[in-house]
Amino acid sequence: MGLLDDIHDIRGRAVDELAGLETPEDLEAWRVRYLGSKGAVKATMQKLKDAPREQKPALGKAANELKNALADAFEARRGQVAAGAVRQDAPGADVTLPGQRPKTGHTHIITQTVNEICEIFARMGFAVATGPEVEDEHHNFDALNIPLAHPARDPLDNFYIDDRTMLRSQTSTVQIRVMENTTPPVRVISPGRVYRPDTVDATHSFMFHQVEGLYVDESVTMAHLKTCLDQFCKTYFGPDVATCFRPSFFPFTEPSAEVDIEFHRPDGTPYWVELGGCGMVDPNVLDAVGYDSEKYTGYAFGLGIERMLMRKHGIPDIRLLFESDARFLRQF
Ligand code: DAH
Repeated sequence: MGLLDDIHDIRGRAVDELAGLETPEDLEAWRVRYLGSKGAVKATMQKLKDAPREQKPALGKAANELKNALADAFEARRGQVAAGAVRQDAPGADVTLPGQRPKTGHTHIITQTVNEICEIFARMGFAVATGPEVEDEHHNFDALNIPLAHPARDPLDNFYIDDRTMLRSQTSTVQIRVMENTTPPVRVISPGRVYRPDTVDATHSFMFHQVEGLYVDESVTMAHLKTCLDQFCKTYFGPDVATCFRPSFFPFTEPSAEVDIEFHRPDGTPYWVELGGCGMVDPNVLDAVGYDSEKYTGYAFGLGIERMLMRKHGIPDIRLLFESDARFLRQF
């Protein structure tokens, strides 16, 4: 019998034996017998040396195939044994027991909220735009009409990476990026993370989420802005919610306002919560991106996402959102 027949025999025998093995110990003994340094595969390789020259290529190939086939079969069987698959009908195992459900996750409440917000604004004709979280000062400040001496630019109030680069402190950056790349009309929202070195407490975090909105076209007015945000709040919080626009100041809007919504304490007394800032896009901002501010007007807004979802879901502390405790997050 030639070496080729031997190889064939070894393979058949090894595979047959392997199929009957049910314990890690038996598997290990099999491995030593066939794949070990003194095992059958090794012995076959040794014999190759003495084979006639012209048969060597074919024999070498067969020997290698033997080695690979046995190694693969071994791994497969080991996996089955480890998973308990081969013991299902062994005495004492109840194969009628329900299986273990794999634990599936779901999207974080912040992601759910972002999706919900995008959907509401999509119904009002807003597309979604995104921008980088690592930004340059031009988009975070200069193009937004925020002068060099403005307190918001203080290095202690921002995460600067170098002189001109920073983690964006607001999603208003995306207004500029969108306008630089599109001609009016534009109607976009942009949800995303922003960063400020605030001391962490129940209502502050060094990273949080905003949703920015921008609508520029001919004859856009403050009335459109108020209607849009009022409708948004009524859709997100409920039809009875009241909104209020308080005069304010932002360098990139003129006039500017802060938008508040009314909530009620358990005893019925009302209180107002600020959701964010808004206003009519300052003509300087339009001109700087090459829009004709004589022809076009626009409104913009930036709302805090955690602030909204914490109110809606009764979450008292922003840190709960970022601590990744599954017991908390599973509720949403
Ligand atoms: N970016 C502002 C902030 O982070 C919020 C804001 C105010 C955004 C007015 C706007 C706006 O688009 O028009 O405080």
